[in-house]
Amino acid sequence: MSDITIHFVSATGETTHIQARTGQSLMLAAVEANVKGIDADCGGTITCATCHVMVGTPWLERLPAVSPDEDSVLDFTASPRTAGSRLSCQIELTPELDGLTVALPPTQY
Ligand code: FES
Repeated sequence: MSDITIHFVSATGETTHIQARTGQSLMLAAVEANVKGIDADCGGTITCATCHVMVGTPWLERLPAVSPDEDSVLDFTASPRTAGSRLSCQIELTPELDGLTVALPPTQY
């Protein structure tokens, strides 16, 4: 496990930088760091869609593919789903994701 840096950009353009451990999910890292805008009501069991983030180039291509379960829950995000939409509870942090930047939706509800 090593520390990597993640950047969260809010819908109003504020950026929050956090240090996160590899091996944990992006959602858990955000919750532990009190990142506003990641609610994660279900605790990572792929049922709530309140851990929605949007991922852009080049990071999106470096993430594992969307599973069928993640794909169906992404249809229930409060903010419109985009091509880069992911559930942060389904993204495991790896050393290759050091510097990952994700956008937060305007709302999770
Ligand atoms: S935490 Fe509920 S779907 Fe990710």
